[in-house]
Amino acid sequence: MTSKFPYFLILLNLLAINGEDTQANCEIDTSNTGAVEYVCPPSPYSTKTSIHVYSKLLIIDCNNTEVLDDTVLPRGNHNNIFKLVLKKCPLPAKGFKDLVNRFNITSLKELTFTLGTAANYTIEANELTGLEELDSLDLSESNILTLNGEIFKNTPNLSILKMNRNEIKLNENLFDNLQNLTNIAMFSNGIRTIPNNTFKKLTKLKTLELWNNKIGDLKRGMFDGLKELKLLELSKNRIQFIENDTFKDLTSLAYLNLAKNVIPELTRKVFENCRNIEIIWLKYNGLMFLRDDVFSQFHKLEVVYLSDNNLMELQKMYSRVRKTYVKYICLIIL
Ligand SMILES: *[C@@H]1O[C@H](CO)[C@@H](O)[C@H](O)[C@H]1NC(C)=O
Ligand SMILES: *[C@@H]1O[C@H](CO)[C@@H](O)[C@H](O)[C@H]1NC(C)=O
Ligand SMILES: *[C@@H]1O[C@H](CO)[C@@H](O)[C@H](O)[C@H]1NC(C)=O
Ligand SMILES: *[C@@H]1O[C@H](CO)[C@@H](O)[C@H](O)[C@H]1NC(C)=O
Ligand SMILES: *[C@@H]1O[C@H](CO)[C@@H](O)[C@H](O)[C@H]1NC(C)=O
Ligand SMILES: *[C@@H]1O[C@H](CO)[C@@H](O)[C@H](O)[C@H]1NC(C)=O
Ligand SMILES: *[C@@H]1O[C@H](CO)[C@@H](O)[C@H](O)[C@H]1NC(C)=O
Repeated sequence: MTSKFPYFLILLNLLAINGEDTQANCEIDTSNTGAVEYVCPPSPYSTKTSIHVYSKLLIIDCNNTEVLDDTVLPRGNHNNIFKLVLKKCPLPAKGFKDLVNRFNITSLKELTFTLGTAANYTIEANELTGLEELDSLDLSESNILTLNGEIFKNTPNLSILKMNRNEIKLNENLFDNLQNLTNIAMFSNGIRTIPNNTFKKLTKLKTLELWNNKIGDLKRGMFDGLKELKLLELSKNRIQFIENDTFKDLTSLAYLNLAKNVIPELTRKVFENCRNIEIIWLKYNGLMFLRDDVFSQFHKLEVVYLSDNNLMELQKMYSRVRKTYVKYICLIIL
């Protein structure tokens, strides 16, 4: 980095001479902790915004500044960076691609935009334009209210998508272009329902986290297509009823969390195709009945968490579980 230092200053001077005088005229400070830090002259915003560059990571902390534009942002040359993190920022005035170009990042794989400061906004379709190589996107805790349904059409390679703690609702076509997704985390979004076929094309998805939403009854069609899903996290929702065949495609499911819902009874038909379940969480449900050998087709079952329910006939049920396969059933019910 040291060798690039003079070159960089020259570049900044050229930009200033060329009349781009609205550009933040920052200097690079390498004296601090091994990281590169941009030191910008005072402007109403730059006193708040700080930019640090590590070996593969560039972090912009806006500290709740109102704008993220040329007055705050310098230019730089960081080809080796593959991860960009924005904290406490508004959306960049000229889009994320402008940020990537501005720092001459040639291949951005991971983008985190978290603790975003604007209130209740929509992320528009073109926001991620030009980020085709993105592998991981985290938009958590950013006050996002809606996403344009076309938002992901430019990021077909995404495998990890996190949108926790927003107010984003699901819609049927949102993930259509994301056939390489392996992980979705959308906990704490106030989601009430899952439209049919929302995940239909996500045949590589391994984990789906939807806990702490307001999802009501689970119905057929909601989880269709998820043939590779290993973990389904639905705790702390409002699930009362699970329709037969809701989980019919979940043949790889190993971990199912339904704790802290309001499910009064479960029957075998609900889990008919889920033969690979290893651990199932059912605690805190007001669960009263487990009908017709509900776990009998689980050949790999290891743990069933059943505490804090109202099960009366547990002893009977327990005696009918395929004991050979069950290593441990949590029977803390009193
Ligand atoms: C963030 O901004 C506040 C004023 O809004 C300031 O008091 C604080 O020192 C800033 N924090 C950092 C890390 O710059
Ligand atoms: C950006 O990186 C490319 C490839 O390393 C290099 O050729 C180019 O000069 C850089 N541009 C700037 C403005 O530094
Ligand atoms: C943002 O939306 C939430 C939920 O709809 C609402 O409670 C809150 O008042 C809104 N905030 C602003 C600043 O509009
Ligand atoms: C998508 O990912 C594959 C495999 O990781 C890679 O070969 C391909 O170049 C990527 N496409 C883009 C546009 O980055
Ligand atoms: C998905 O990943 C594979 C390899 O991992 C890659 O070849 C393919 O181009 C990717 N699909 C899309 C739609 O980018
Ligand atoms: C969802 O799909 C199921 C079966 O796949 C169907 O019975 C149900 O009517 C569909 N629901 C809606 C709202 O279209
Ligand atoms: C669901 O499956 C159970 C068998 O486990 C059956 O008794 C019940 O009638 C089925 N419900 C519907 C609506 O088909």
